[in-house]
Amino acid sequence: TKPSVYITREVNKDAVDLLKEHCDVTSWTGPGPVPRDELLKNIENKNGLFCMLTDKIDSTVLDKAGKNLKVIATMSVGFDHLDTQEIKKRGIKMGYTPDTLTDATAELSVALLLATSRRLLEANQEARTGGWKAWSPFWMCGPGLKDSTVGIVGFGRIGQQIARILKSFKPKRIIYYNRSERLREAQEIGAHRVNFDELLAQSDFITLVASLTPETKNLFDESAFKKMKSTAVFINTSRGGLVDQDALVNALQNKIIWGAGLDVMTPEPLPLDHALYKLKNCVILPHIGSAAVETRNEMGLVTARNIIAAFKEEKMPYELIV
Ligand code: GLV
Ligand code: GLV
Repeated sequence: TKPSVYITREVNKDAVDLLKEHCDVTSWTGPGPVPRDELLKNIENKNGLFCMLTDKIDSTVLDKAGKNLKVIATMSVGFDHLDTQEIKKRGIKMGYTPDTLTDATAELSVALLLATSRRLLEANQEARTGGWKAWSPFWMCGPGLKDSTVGIVGFGRIGQQIARILKSFKPKRIIYYNRSERLREAQEIGAHRVNFDELLAQSDFITLVASLTPETKNLFDESAFKKMKSTAVFINTSRGGLVDQDALVNALQNKIIWGAGLDVMTPEPLPLDHALYKLKNCVILPHIGSAAVETRNEMGLVTARNIIAAFKEEKMPYELIV
C-alpha cells in the first residue's frame, strides 16, 4: 500500500498529481487555512504532512499523528511554525523550499523598498483623490538609493540576492549583519560585514531578511530603532516576530525613523484597526514575498518531491536540518 499524505491547503494540481503517483493523498479544500480541529482529526495515522506557514505544527499535532508520521514538508522557506526540536526528537524528517523562492522574494523586497522610499502608494492615492494640484519641487520626495548606505540583516540567499539587485541602483556601500561570516559571497557581491549596532547607525535603508528563531525574536526593539538614522527606511520581508511592533509604531509616529515597508507583521492578517494602517509612512503588504506564479507552482512541486524522496529513503531535494 502507498504511504498516506495529508495536504493542508489546495495547492497546484501538478504537485498533487506528482504526489498521487506515489502516495494516497487527502487534502483540506476549504477556502482558508485548515482549521486546527480539522488538522488534528486528519493527521491521525498519516505517514506524511504537506503544510503551509499558516499551520502550527507542535507536539499536539505530532501526538495526534502517532508513530507512523515519517515526513513533514512545508511549502515555505520559513519554518518558525514548526516545532523543529520536537519533530527532530521523534525522528521525523523535515523538508522546506529555499532557493525556489529566492528571486521572487528578493524582487518583492526591492519593490517594497522603492514603494516605501519613493512613496508610491501615497502618491497614487494623492493622484486619485485630487491632491495632485501641480508639479511641485519638493512634493512627494523621499530618499534615493544612489550614494546611500544599504544595510542587510540576514545575509542568506535572499539577502544576497537583494544586495545584487540593489547594486544596480549605485549605493555608496552595502553592509550586512549575519551570524556567520559569508565572506566569499560578500566579496563576490562587494558587501561588507559589520556588527548590528554599526549597521543600525550607518544605514539609510535597512532590509530585514533573517529567519525567526528564539535568538532573533524582537531583534528590532525600541533601542534598535533609536540607534537608526531619523532618515532611515526599514523594510521587513522575513517574519513579524523579528520586530517589536509597538516599538516600530512608536518609531514611525514620532519620526524616530523615516518610514517602513512591511510584508510581514504580527499577527497576520493585521487587524484592520491597527495603528500601522493609519501611518502614511508605512507601506503594508499581505505577506506576498514569494507570490510569483511560477515560484508558487515550483514551491508546491518541491514540497511534493521532498515528501516522495523521504518515503523512498532517497536524498530529499531540500531537507531541513536543525
Ligand atoms: C514565506 O514567508 C516563506 O517562508 O516561504
Ligand atoms: C533564508 O533562508 C534565505 O534563503 O535567505
